[in-house]
Amino acid sequence: MGNLRAVITGVGHYVPDYILTNDELSSMVDTSDEWIMTRIGIKTRHILKGVGKGSSDMGAEAVKQLLEKTHTNPEEVDLVVCCTVTPDMLFPGTGAIICDKVGITNAFSFDLNAGCSSFLYGLSVASKFVETGRYKKVVLVGADKMSAITDYQDRATCPIFGDASAAVMLEPTTEYLGILDEELKTDGVGRTHLYQKAGGSVKPPTHDTIDAREHYVYQEGQIVFKWAVAKMADTACEVMQRNHLDPNTTWLAPHQANLRIIDAVGRRMNIDPSRVMINIEKYGNTTSATVPLLFAEWEQLLKKGDDIIVATFGAGFTWGAMWIKWGY
Ligand SMILES: CC(C)(COP(=O)(O)OP(=O)(O)OC[C@H]1O[C@@H](n2cnc3c(N)ncnc32)[C@H](O)[C@@H]1OP(=O)(O)O)[C@@H](O)C(=O)NCCC(=O)NCCS
Repeated sequence: MGNLRAVITGVGHYVPDYILTNDELSSMVDTSDEWIMTRIGIKTRHILKGVGKGSSDMGAEAVKQLLEKTHTNPEEVDLVVCCTVTPDMLFPGTGAIICDKVGITNAFSFDLNAGCSSFLYGLSVASKFVETGRYKKVVLVGADKMSAITDYQDRATCPIFGDASAAVMLEPTTEYLGILDEELKTDGVGRTHLYQKAGGSVKPPTHDTIDAREHYVYQEGQIVFKWAVAKMADTACEVMQRNHLDPNTTWLAPHQANLRIIDAVGRRMNIDPSRVMINIEKYGNTTSATVPLLFAEWEQLLKKGDDIIVATFGAGFTWGAMWIKWGY
């Protein structure tokens, strides 16, 4: 049991149909395609429409596709970890709702929220269950309906976010594959720079909090930007260097928050630009879904044994980097 590692054996994903363009955003707030492309690097984002639709609906679609692709019967799944900052409701957990929608009946499930680092932390947590040998099929799903907490009257934040979900299967292996090293960090000093002011136990919803538009993402962009570049680059370089990974052959799967952040991290790592995974232009920042959405889109290019560094930064602040050897 001691030599078991957790390896990714499949990926599924789901993005909603509706596409919100920069031109449509420009009719809602004082912004432009040129500003958004230059400062953030986003052209479009997908938005989940429909009354009564939440993160679990997208998560369920991603998990269904994952189970189909990996030829897994829903009853075989042992654990579902759902990474989200936009749960369907405060409780029960969105993972439990996804299990019900997919027909996963023999698993246990819980949610994990570490801002935009949720999926990275989730990979770490889920891999530990697999490494014990007790759990053979663990589903890790990132699902965020960011449009539910985005203020479409605030031009500083509304261009950034989109809705999506993606999921991976983690299974045990004795091969030298899977999750091999990580460096995860949190500094709560960041909690006043990126957060939702109301709706939690400190400030439950009232008419006043709604009038003050406090149920949306609040972000001090420049502070978050500086921290994100420095911390993602520091941890990604550390994990790459201490494992003697070659920047010419290693892939970088960075959280997709801003193209300028991604470029700066790639440059600090000296990674071959063609190996930096980027899809922010199409989807924006989908929070817990960015990293597995990259895996889904790059799946055909990745080969068994390829080295990948995952690097993220998010609310908390939370950040970190992980070394993965691709499993198939
Ligand atoms: C949010 C972000 C894109 C803003 O970009 P920025 O270059 O820092 O822009 P600033 O906030 O300094 O604003 C510069 C100017 O553009 C304006 N501006 C802001 N949003 C705008 C928009 N959508 N369209 C046009 N102008 C805009 C501001 O009002 C400001 O105008 P002023 O100089 O007249 O005051 C950027 O700070 C960022 O990406 N931060 C990090 C986000 C992140 O990583 N989040 C991670 C969370 S997981």
